[in-house]
Order: sequence, then structure tokens, then C-alpha cells
Amino acid sequence: MPQLSTPHAAVVGLQWGDEGKGKIVDLLTARYDCIVRYNGGANAGHTVQVGTERYALHLIPSGILSKGKINVVGNGVVVDPEKILEEIDGLRKRGVEVGSNLRISDRAHVVMPYHKDQDAALEDLLAKRAGTAGNGGSIGTTRRGIGPAYADKIRRSTAIRMGDLLNREVLERKLDTICSMRMAELEALGATIGTGANEVRPLVPSELATRFAAAGEKLRPHITDTVYLLHDEMRAGRSVLFEGANACLLDIDHGTFPFVTSSNCSTLGIPSGSGVPGRQIGKVYGIMKAYSTRVGGGPFVTELLDATGDRIRKRGREYGTTTGRARRCGWLDLVAVRYSTMVCGADAIACTLLDVLSGFDELNVCVGYRRADGTITDRFVPDAERMTEFTPVYETLPGWSRELTDCHERSDLPIEAQQYLTFIEQYTATPIELVSVGPERNQTLESACRATAGAR
Ligand code: GDP
Ligand code: IMO
Ligand code: MG
Repeated sequence: MPQLSTPHAAVVGLQWGDEGKGKIVDLLTARYDCIVRYNGGANAGHTVQVGTERYALHLIPSGILSKGKINVVGNGVVVDPEKILEEIDGLRKRGVEVGSNLRISDRAHVVMPYHKDQDAALEDLLAKRAGTAGNGGSIGTTRRGIGPAYADKIRRSTAIRMGDLLNREVLERKLDTICSMRMAELEALGATIGTGANEVRPLVPSELATRFAAAGEKLRPHITDTVYLLHDEMRAGRSVLFEGANACLLDIDHGTFPFVTSSNCSTLGIPSGSGVPGRQIGKVYGIMKAYSTRVGGGPFVTELLDATGDRIRKRGREYGTTTGRARRCGWLDLVAVRYSTMVCGADAIACTLLDVLSGFDELNVCVGYRRADGTITDRFVPDAERMTEFTPVYETLPGWSRELTDCHERSDLPIEAQQYLTFIEQYTATPIELVSVGPERNQTLESACRATAGAR
């Protein structure tokens, strides 16, 4: 079937997250009617700066900060009901309208407290056993219960969906089955059930049912069939922007497994996570920061464990929006970005945080991986075990000293910064249409589609 020409678009991270998706979605929101989250949960932290105000969004689409938009939490998201209520409250307190402009899928799965306990217990167990045969240590998850909630979705009979919160009887019936099973599983992971410090509280189905039915009542006005909603909107001529959470290299199928999250965070998650066919997406913006970062464990070929890495972390304020953890920093890995561009079908790149690289004499860009036997590949291998043998093959480009935060056009940038961008375009065979030189909306340079050389 030929690709449709459509007004709908997607924003997706091309690295390991925190590329500035929130900023770019906020910027693009003006051109779309509905903003849709299709994957992940409260593991995401999207920072949007509006003037001097900074907002950190975790479950609610970044479009909520713009008036008159419909914001959809799709069926592919795992929703922590108490966390989203907290987020709604926080936004309202700051004068942001949250009402019928927020819709949550009745089919989105629920993150329960025991998912967070399971996430933590498994991480603790793996950390304790790190170094034993076949154990690469913990994943370094956000401990937001994401993996266990998605595991229940796949297991089916132990899952709870947002729609279930609206019927206390159904909820308690489900929890009856789940709770005893879950306590045994928690104990098997090394958790102690009890009421003391560091112990997991006993799971009482009726108590949990009361607590989460109450959360469901508060969320009732927002819970709906978002699949029909989106199709009705699109039929009525309204446009949709999909907001990816996490990023392509954390994708459960295509990322650096097992150091990934538990959803399809590439664009491939859009159809299943929203009910909108992939052929409806007319344009994909891949978001890439001008260097690399990752949070948690896993392979990172270009990681800098030295003063250069510290300098990038400091200049880029590379500390997690969700967990506050220091992000690991390194040079731009174009092997990884070209792979993500291919998997996500990115039509254009938005290059963010370019301003952070001002002041380096030279900049390294990874264009290949050297294997242990000395041979070189320019293909990404989405497997943590197999990636351990790689060392980076760098191309060294000239740096620039001038600060970029006051540039308004791409031609305002120092020539070396322009060359850096052109190098990325040529290597990835993808045009850079947006360049971000600061966290604010107006610190963005937009350029028309450029011709690119090279094949993908
Ligand atoms: P997301 O998860 O992809 O939305 O990204 P995060 O919000 O977790 O992290 C990106 C951080 O970089 C946020 O603090 C943004 O305010 C900030 N940011 C975004 N674009 C730029 C930029 O071009 N320059 C600088 N210096 N900061 C930026
Ligand atoms: P945004 O949307 C950065 C990482 C975690 C961990 C791994 C698995 O802000 O870009 P999980 O809690 O999902 O089971 O953790 O994935 N991770 C992220 N890292 N930004 C994110 O989201 C992330 N979401 C998950 O640090 O290594
Ligand atoms: Mg983030």
C-alpha cells in the first residue's frame, strides 16, 4: 500500500532518552490538534521551559501546556493513577488547565504499588548478584514499576487496566487473585513482607481496591476509548502529533537489550500503543542531542569517564528529570543514531543541546565500532553482551568557542558548528530541520529541508 500524505507526525528519541523531546513537542504543538503519548509511563521525564517557568512532565503529553489541544494518554502507556493525579494537581496549581483536554485510554494498563516493589526487589537482587556467572548486574531502572506492569499486560490474567478502576467489584475480584500470588513472587525476589522499615507491606485486596477505585473516580472524566477518539478527530480533519517517551535505543525489541525499557519506544510502538495505523504518520522527527548520554546500566561505546565527560555533564545539566541521577556522558555516536534513524523512519532530525559543545577545541564523532579482532563495522548491534567488545572509531572535527544561545539562524552559527551539523546530515543521510541552542522555545533554529548526500 502506498504511504499516505498525511498531516500527522511523530517525535521520537534517537538515543537513550532525554534528547529534549519535551522541548521539541512543545514547540511543534502549535501546528497540531492532538498530542498523544503511546508508550512508557512515569519513567519518562520531559522538561519544557516556557519563559522562566520549567515544567517536568512524566505521564501527561507536553501539549498540555498549550491551550486548546487534546492530550491523549494512549493504550500503550502504563499509568500510575496516583502519579498522574499528582501531575494533574501540580499543573492546575500552576494555572495550567487540565480538564476535557486530557484523555486517558480505558485500555492503558495500571502501574500498582506492587509493581514498584517488584521493580525495586529485582533490581536489588541483581545488584547483589552482579559479577556472578551470567549476571551483568541491575538494569538501573527508574524503579517506577514499568517492567513489572508491562509483564502483567503480557501475562494477561494478572493485569489491571484503567477501565477496571471504574468498577470496584471487578477491581477487587482481580486483586484477590493477584495479591496472594504477588506476595509469593516478592518473597521469591528476596523481599520481606511485613510492616517494618524496608519491608513490603502485606497486600490486602480490599484496601487496594478502595484506594485505586477512589483514584479511578477522580480520573473518570478523563478515561475513555481513545482509539475511536483519535480516529474521529482525524476524520474531522484534525492533526495528531505522537510524543515518544524514552527512546529508540531503549526499545524492548530494538534497543541495547537487556538494558532497555519494557515498551516499543521507537515509532514502531505507535500503531499498537495508540490504535492509529503506522501509514497515517506523514512525518517523523528524530530527536538527537549533539552528544550522547544514558542513565542506568548498559553498553555505551563513546562514554567519557574523564574530565571531558564531567564538563559535558556540567554544561548540559545532565541530571535525570525523573530520578535526579547523574547521566553518563560521551561523544556523539553516529553509528547508533543512523541505526535509530533507520528503525524509526526519521524523515528529519532535530539536533538539540548544540550549545553545550561550545568551548571544545576538537569534537570526536563515532563513525564505526572496532571489534576485539581489529576489524571495523558501521552497523549497530542491539545486544548488550555483543556490544562489550566494541571500541569507538572517531572522526575528529574542529570545535568552536563562541556561545550559541543567541543564534537565530543556522547561518549565524560558527562555521565549525555548521560543519558539525552537515557531517551528521551526510552520515545519517537525513536533513537536520531543527537545531536547538537552549532550553527555551525561541532558542531554536529552523531550516528548510536540505539536500543530503550519502545513502542510509
Ligand atoms: P526529554 O526526556 O527527551 O524530553 O529530555 P529531558 O527534558 O529529560 O532533558 C533535556 C534537558 O535539556 C531539559 O532540561 C531541557 O530543558 C534541556 N534542553 C533542551 N534543549 C536544550 C538545548 O538546546 N540546550 C540546552 N542547554 N538545554 C536544552
Ligand atoms: P525520557 O522520556 C532516560 C532508562 C532507565 C533504565 C532503563 C529501564 O525522559 O527520555 P525503566 O524504569 O524504564 O524500566 O528503566 O531505561 N530510561 C530512561 N532513560 N530517559 C528516559 O525517558 C528513560 N526511560 C527509561 O534509566 O536505564
Ligand atoms: Mg527525560
